[in-house]
Amino acid sequence: MKKNSITTLNQFISDQQSHFPFVQGSLSRIFRDLQLGAKMINRDVRQAGLIDILGDFGNTNVQGEEQKKLDVISNEVFIKLLEMSGDCVCILSEESEDIHWCEGADNAKYILAMDPLDGSSNIDVNAPIGSIFSIYKRLSMDKPVTMEDVLQTGNQQVAAGYVIYGAATMFVYTTGSGVFGFTLDDSIQEFCMSHPNIKIPQNGNIFSVNEGNYTEFPIGYKSYIDWCKTSGDNKKIYSARYIGSLIADFHRNLLKGGIYLYPPTNKAPNGKLRLLYECNPMAFLIEQAGGKATNGNIRIMDIQPTELHQRTPLIIGSENMVSLMHEML
Ligand code: AHG
Ligand code: MN
Ligand code: MN
Repeated sequence: MKKNSITTLNQFISDQQSHFPFVQGSLSRIFRDLQLGAKMINRDVRQAGLIDILGDFGNTNVQGEEQKKLDVISNEVFIKLLEMSGDCVCILSEESEDIHWCEGADNAKYILAMDPLDGSSNIDVNAPIGSIFSIYKRLSMDKPVTMEDVLQTGNQQVAAGYVIYGAATMFVYTTGSGVFGFTLDDSIQEFCMSHPNIKIPQNGNIFSVNEGNYTEFPIGYKSYIDWCKTSGDNKKIYSARYIGSLIADFHRNLLKGGIYLYPPTNKAPNGKLRLLYECNPMAFLIEQAGGKATNGNIRIMDIQPTELHQRTPLIIGSENMVSLMHEML
């Protein structure tokens, strides 16, 4: 990138598209909708304490979790925008029990999965939160969409990314040729390239895990955490950093190097995080940045989903740290 030049996310995507003339623009339109949704949610987040959107919505979602008002608002914003453009045949969301079929979009070729608002428990305390998305192509245009189209492995994602509403708001994504980060310039309301071709360091000195659940972790996870606290690399003891928003913990580790763990517990034998809405998109991003993501047995992106709201343990981050953790298991 030339010094002092500005590349907006829209410019970057349209430049990329010109290298692939067979792309008809549907994916670009989905990105445009995601950006607009992100700006709308960003506006709400920035005013959260001033307008009546903090607190519980008064309902639980399909997974039995308390829904916050912002969970519901974010879900509606993205669904409405994506449905209006008609480029997604259906939308899968952590906050919707069933598949949302987009009206009048039977011939659309993309399927989008999302966690519209990640880190709900941090909304009311002004800590970073995010939105996560993952895009698949339907398997065939010649027949109606089936569960086979909807439950594809992470390997088949065509794009994935997240928006982090933190000290600054950023849009980070991959379409399979690197990871690019754009920061929202508030004054012009445009996402501008700030982090071209992000690579995660192969090693880091941060481990991120909810240690409150330590006694319930399988032995391999305990050994690794103990190792981080006592031995580390060459006796360089690691730092613990855990915000409790996957996006915020992931984003920090992506830039600085580190490992994030969400192990199985007695209460949640498959961990807490969802394969389609959280783990697959994060796994695609981390691999594109040179890192790794596994469930302790296999690569996250090799897991064949069998249901929409499926959960999986997650070990994700710097290549060498994830490999060592894997050995300890
Ligand atoms: P969500 O707000 O979408 O339900 O996700 C919350 C997730 C994730 O963001 C975070 O890493 C994890 O829950 C934190 O869980 P614990 O509070 O159990 O550590
Ligand atoms: Mn989440
Ligand atoms: Mn969520």
